[in-house]
Amino acid sequence: MKNTIYMAPMEGLTDFTFRNAYEKIFGKGKIAKYFTPFISPNKSEKFLAREIRDIDREHNNGINTVVQVMTNDAKDFIWTARMLYDEYGYNEINLNAGCPSGTVVSKNKGSGMLNEPKLLDKFLDAVFEDDFIRENIKVSVKTRVGVETDTAFPEIIDIYNKYPLEELIVHPRLRTDFYKNDLNLEAYDYAVKNSRSKVVFNGDIFTRKNFLDIKKKFPHTDTFMLGRGLIADPGLIDVIVSENPEDFSRDLISDKKRMKELHDLVFDARLHIMPGDTHAIHRMKEMWCYMAYVFDDCKKEIKVIKKSQKVADYKSAVDIFFNVAKLTEKDYILFSKKF
Ligand SMILES: Cc1cc2nc3c(=O)[nH]c(=O)nc-3n(C[C@H](O)[C@H](O)[C@H](O)COP(=O)(O)O)c2cc1C
Repeated sequence: MKNTIYMAPMEGLTDFTFRNAYEKIFGKGKIAKYFTPFISPNKSEKFLAREIRDIDREHNNGINTVVQVMTNDAKDFIWTARMLYDEYGYNEINLNAGCPSGTVVSKNKGSGMLNEPKLLDKFLDAVFEDDFIRENIKVSVKTRVGVETDTAFPEIIDIYNKYPLEELIVHPRLRTDFYKNDLNLEAYDYAVKNSRSKVVFNGDIFTRKNFLDIKKKFPHTDTFMLGRGLIADPGLIDVIVSENPEDFSRDLISDKKRMKELHDLVFDARLHIMPGDTHAIHRMKEMWCYMAYVFDDCKKEIKVIKKSQKVADYKSAVDIFFNVAKLTEKDYILFSKKF
């Protein structure tokens, strides 16, 4: 069974500059859907300049982009969907019911929506009551399995089951786990067995071994959303979409070369749209928080990248890094240290 892969929405990482560069160098039709980092509608009924730039059709040419929306107000979701459809031509929208950030959860948005299942139900009811949505928009949800415990997860699944969701993407963690702690695979299993919607797996697929382990546990899951794994090791996509991921033979020399190309495309695009050197360099360093883990022999070189503040210094540090560092396939990766 061929696997379908989605790129996860990641604020600060998978903006249009990354999505386009990834598609050009690694994706090449292998990513079925690219999810945008969330846009957050406000009462003004206008998108922010940054949001417009990210969803602009010209910036999403030739890639299948799904816009993610974070709100707990059905009215805001509906005008956003309408505008995305009418003005930007999007007919599929993803609801963020997973963001663990304190400022988001305190407003009962993101994973905070799971705090009160009745309000989640009311929200979805109003969304799917809307004729325009029902006729024009595919709505999917990206969810966690609870806030502090997973005890309400069956109730949450019952609620999702009341609505014709396009799909349910499950990141099997609690809000309190943020992006750490073991995955709750029992809760994922519950979703697989009880969801009426198609279920997509999301979480901690950083290596071939991670993928094979999850696939072994859930052989009927055929769609996977990857985030950090594709930032760290973009060439992992070739393994996962291959006919035989266990035996697929990678060309790590070529993958390293392509990573440099990806890096350079993203950096140039960010320098072009961001004012001053600092901002673009800072955003690239967020990528290094993940990329650094798939290389050996590079501690010194990574430190130089980390310290660089000016474009010329940063570029030269990156060139040296790619000359020296060795891309390796690991069984496990623990993204722990701050870059
Ligand atoms: C820096 C960062 C930014 C993220 N931004 C978003 C976001 O905008 N929307 C969202 O639904 N999830 C967001 N996530 C969560 C990811 O989409 C994904 O669910 C999570 O990283 C687990 O998948 P992974 O283990 O494959 O990375 C973010 C995660 C990180 C680490």
